[in-house]
Amino acid sequence: MKLDWKNHPRPIIALSPMADMTDSAFCRVVKEVTALTDFPIVFREMVSAEAVVRGNNKTLDMTEIHPGERPLIQQIFGSDPATMAEAARIIAEQHQPEGFDVNMGCPVYKIVHNFNGAALMKEPELAARIVKSMKAVIDVPLSVKIRLGWSDPTECITFAKVLEDAGVDLITIHGRTKLQGYSGVADWEMIKRAKAAVSVPVLCNGDVHTANLMPKALEVSHCDGLLIARGALGNPWIFKDFLDLQAGRTPESVSLTERLRVVHRHLDLHLEQYGNRSVNTFRKHLSWYFKGMPGFKKYKEPMMKAQTPDELRSVLHAMLETPPFVV
Ligand SMILES: Cc1cc2nc3c(=O)[nH]c(=O)nc-3n(C[C@H](O)[C@H](O)[C@H](O)COP(=O)(O)O)c2cc1C
Repeated sequence: MKLDWKNHPRPIIALSPMADMTDSAFCRVVKEVTALTDFPIVFREMVSAEAVVRGNNKTLDMTEIHPGERPLIQQIFGSDPATMAEAARIIAEQHQPEGFDVNMGCPVYKIVHNFNGAALMKEPELAARIVKSMKAVIDVPLSVKIRLGWSDPTECITFAKVLEDAGVDLITIHGRTKLQGYSGVADWEMIKRAKAAVSVPVLCNGDVHTANLMPKALEVSHCDGLLIARGALGNPWIFKDFLDLQAGRTPESVSLTERLRVVHRHLDLHLEQYGNRSVNTFRKHLSWYFKGMPGFKKYKEPMMKAQTPDELRSVLHAMLETPPFVV
């Protein structure tokens, strides 16, 4: 499937890239739960352009794509235009993602101290060169994910124009500044101002944690669509719920049986991706799947202490036998 952001059906709804979370296994779960081939679009977690160019196998493995995940956007981070272009070329040649995204919004020290992520918002000329050099070597759309700014929330308005002039096909804006990190509330009104300043499609991101908030975020931001991050963790049903709302149906609440079915499936896909000894790296997902569930406390410890897939599966089975609450 060829993606064309300008003509893609509105609203564009996508899973936001999340390091250690939106891997192949989770992207497949999201697509399977929604049961549609092209909805939502999934953005894969960021990979380092330098590591790709160095031929780091672990990084290259992270860019493999299962057919069930397509259409898929691979996010890349880095700050050297030639390296970014070469990384995109290598990934395109090996795995043909339907699009690329550049991370210009990540606030964490490990990323920004090398002029990567949100630090590029302080270097508009360099950001534009990255876009131009990548566009010159790929034949799929290029998007960029930014924040409102480094410290000044109006920076996104001028920065979005710089990206548009450089030839970007779509921009996502997380409604916080780099200095805010994850504090405060995402400012969808400011995203609206940046959206009004450019003619490329813009996606609104930040604090759209439930399907009920999705129409509201679209209305306030005037955006072409949404990128959903934490709202999808432990809740891959959020996209299906949004479709129900759009069709005038009330989304069904997720039964314990369905939740456990999806957790089992996600676990199987996680083990398929990382091997049978990777139960420990699945725990972060378990916390999200059972967050706030009444009566979950008694299962939490055995679940988090499970060392093998069978140990974990037996805790999940016990949950179904003796539900933590009335289903
Ligand atoms: C665990 C985690 C990992 C993230 N990793 C990335 C990433 O790799 N690339 C990126 O652009 N944003 C990343 N983000 C930011 C999210 O994509 C999103 O912009 C942010 O969480 C705000 O959206 P939300 O309120 O829907 O969660 C990450 C966020 C979280 C919580």
